[in-house]
Amino acid sequence: MPQQKLASVNKFKTREALIGIVGLGYVGLPLMLRYNAIGFRVLGIDIDESKVSKLNAGQSYIEHIPADKIAAASQSGFEATTDFRRVSECDALILCVPTPLNKYREPDMSFVIDTTDALKPYLRAGQVVSLESTTYPGTTEEELLPRVQEGGLVVGESIFLVYSPEREDPGNPNFETRTIPKVIGGHTPACLEVGIALYEQAIDQVVSVSSTKAAEMTKLLENIHRAVNIGLVNEMKIVADRMGIDIFEVVDAAATKPFGFTAYYPGPGLGGHCIPIDPFYLTWKAREYGLHTRFIELSGEVNQAMPEYVLSKLMDGLNDSGKALKGSKVLVLGIAYKKNVDDMRESPSVEIMELIEAKGGIVAYSDPHVPVFPKMREHHFELSSEALTADNLASFDAVVLATDHDKFDYELIKQHAKLIVDSRGKYRAPAPHIIKA
Ligand SMILES: NC(=O)c1ccc[n+]([C@@H]2O[C@H](COP(=O)([O-])OP(=O)(O)OC[C@H]3O[C@@H](n4cnc5c(N)ncnc54)[C@H](O)[C@@H]3O)[C@@H](O)[C@H]2O)c1
Repeated sequence: MPQQKLASVNKFKTREALIGIVGLGYVGLPLMLRYNAIGFRVLGIDIDESKVSKLNAGQSYIEHIPADKIAAASQSGFEATTDFRRVSECDALILCVPTPLNKYREPDMSFVIDTTDALKPYLRAGQVVSLESTTYPGTTEEELLPRVQEGGLVVGESIFLVYSPEREDPGNPNFETRTIPKVIGGHTPACLEVGIALYEQAIDQVVSVSSTKAAEMTKLLENIHRAVNIGLVNEMKIVADRMGIDIFEVVDAAATKPFGFTAYYPGPGLGGHCIPIDPFYLTWKAREYGLHTRFIELSGEVNQAMPEYVLSKLMDGLNDSGKALKGSKVLVLGIAYKKNVDDMRESPSVEIMELIEAKGGIVAYSDPHVPVFPKMREHHFELSSEALTADNLASFDAVVLATDHDKFDYELIKQHAKLIVDSRGKYRAPAPHIIKA
């Protein structure tokens, strides 16, 4: 049915298509805003009633996505719903749902599968279904393809299926949805053609690969590359520290090499929904092929040990002034997983807080982006963010700089904290009360 393909391509080119975005989170919302900005009508579908009503009221629930943008989108063709029957109205269905690990650190595909099952009864000819969630190679073919075809639609003829990973970098002012090139793989050449027509309206550069599997593997390579290199530099940090060398000075010097080196900086461990998790999607799938992903495991081991390393530096620092961690008051600075965002998923700061508490330390935190410690599935602290005043800083036995937000007053901290354990290389000049961790 080449006419079906042409009709679908045409709907995107003329911008008459209704774009359906399933999963209105960190990935789905920026994409919604982009399609809305270029004149498409967008229907957002989510299972979370509270998010849907907030969005329809023109509010945002993510700090770096301004409410006025959501409100403007609502005024100009964006609507959110929990009603999956409306799937049939959409010409594209872009799936941006979570892909976490379960408690055995294996892929939890339940969100992708539940979403596809929920869409299934309402799929119709002419639609393109695009999975954007990060996942192992083979997901689109093994999980989506059979479900999409279950009602008699034929992928590549009457309906189109692609995988196109998201490369969102929240809080990065240098890139936006439009300017981040987008990789895409289709189940068939016709799928790819329709998928390109969908994305090239919104994204400056669409990069096609030969299959959905290649696109899935591309995303994993990008994130594994990051996890492994951060693991390497975290290991180098420990060695450099023992040798009395400042690893941050070394990375900066190495970064002056104009070719063949990319700077990665050490820190208190990996955080966020992507880098600590995604590599293990490949580890799990590789086992099916009798293969071990040794770099992934090794860097995972090094990175996961970082909160313990920071803790040991904190205990050393307290010890030097004759104190035990037990009973000491410790302020953790920055509990979001990276600077200038409010996202706390997998944040190593939270693990550091738990380690301090487990040793009998009295823990508090300060984070301008997280005023109250949120409800998290596995972590619980009844705390709200401490004000960073001179007196308050001086009242703690130590502060641990875990996330280097720009909003912190680093000079004030330096002047008034009794002991600073710096896991981000923010304080380069040596001082008796500053320990690099
Ligand atoms: N956050 C990032 O920076 C980032 C970057 C690149 C890729 N990714 C990937 O994108 C995917 C989504 O991540 P995110 O950060 O946007 O997650 P998120 O948790 O912010 O958003 C996911 C949304 O999906 C909704 N949802 C869950 N189950 C659903 C269902 N069955 N039907 C409809 N909606 C459902 C949730 O309510 C939530 O609003 C993940 O695979 C992630 O690995 C994330």
